[in-house]
Amino acid sequence: MLVITGASGQLGRKITENLLQHVPAEGIALSVRDPSKALNFRAAGIRVRQGDYEDAASLRHAWEGADRLLLVSSNAAAIGGDPMMQHATAIAVARDLGVQRIFYTSQIASSSTSHFPPARTHAATEALLAQSGVPWTALRHGFYADSALAMNALGFANGVLAAPLDGKVSWTTHDDLAAADAMLLASSEAIEGPTAPLTGLEALDLDDIAKLAQDILDKPVIREILEDGAMLENAQSTGVPPDRIAILMGYYKAARLGEFASVDPTLSRLIGHPPQSMHDFMVEQLR
Ligand SMILES: NC(=O)c1ccc[n+]([C@@H]2O[C@H](COP(=O)([O-])OP(=O)(O)OC[C@H]3O[C@@H](n4cnc5c(N)ncnc54)[C@H](OP(=O)(O)O)[C@@H]3O)[C@@H](O)[C@H]2O)c1
Repeated sequence: MLVITGASGQLGRKITENLLQHVPAEGIALSVRDPSKALNFRAAGIRVRQGDYEDAASLRHAWEGADRLLLVSSNAAAIGGDPMMQHATAIAVARDLGVQRIFYTSQIASSSTSHFPPARTHAATEALLAQSGVPWTALRHGFYADSALAMNALGFANGVLAAPLDGKVSWTTHDDLAAADAMLLASSEAIEGPTAPLTGLEALDLDDIAKLAQDILDKPVIREILEDGAMLENAQSTGVPPDRIAILMGYYKAARLGEFASVDPTLSRLIGHPPQSMHDFMVEQLR
């Protein structure tokens, strides 16, 4: 049985859809906080059970019979929660259940010294996996292309991408990552430990994104550099919670130090075609 967590979220849902191209529905089980968000998958013959990273007993039930587990990383930090506690609970349950391999959705900047707080969580989770005794694969995802659009939504609307100095980022779509994750989950071969960076084939900074947006939206879009302090003040004065501010400010610092810049052909090789370019993704999403 292949078990996928976070299947009510964007990535988990797409991984499940892709996995159906590799294995029959009876071989897949979903673990979601709210099963009513996965009714379509249940109707397709997939087992859907309730599982919350905060509740080990629910995970033991939801993951019953799991041979391989795809653990979608927690997004709890953005709302003041403790993702490490949740990941530790999940890894302990998987070990106790005798899961044969854990696939964890990590990130290309994963490092204990990263300036981006989630990347330090990914590194600490990879260390827990290494100590768990369970075979594991860390799917080192490129930065979501979706995040570039979310972070700059206001800028696309008003024509000014105002943010601190950044750096090149190898933006990567959920669709391409989900296809690769499903392929690896279903494959009899396994990558031990961290994968190569799973990324798009180009790295772009906000200057590049502004130029693409100008062309795609057919209106002036300029890039304006804000001092870090000005960005911090804006975020604080508009009531952004402290944990989210730490992630945001850490993002720009890490980006200008090149933490998200790796470009690697592994994702193209896994999915059998070039990953979607940022230009094509923006055309699809913004027009
Ligand atoms: N590589 C990157 O650049 C990047 C960028 C942003 C985020 N991420 C990470 O990638 C993960 C997946 O991304 P996504 O786009 O699919 O995010 P998403 O759409 O927000 O989905 C997150 C999923 O996690 C589930 N979840 C949250 N708390 C949980 C808990 N306590 N127990 C069990 N499940 C829980 C959510 O369930 P509900 O539907 O019940 O809320 C949802 O299914 C994120 O959680 C984050 O850690 C990576």
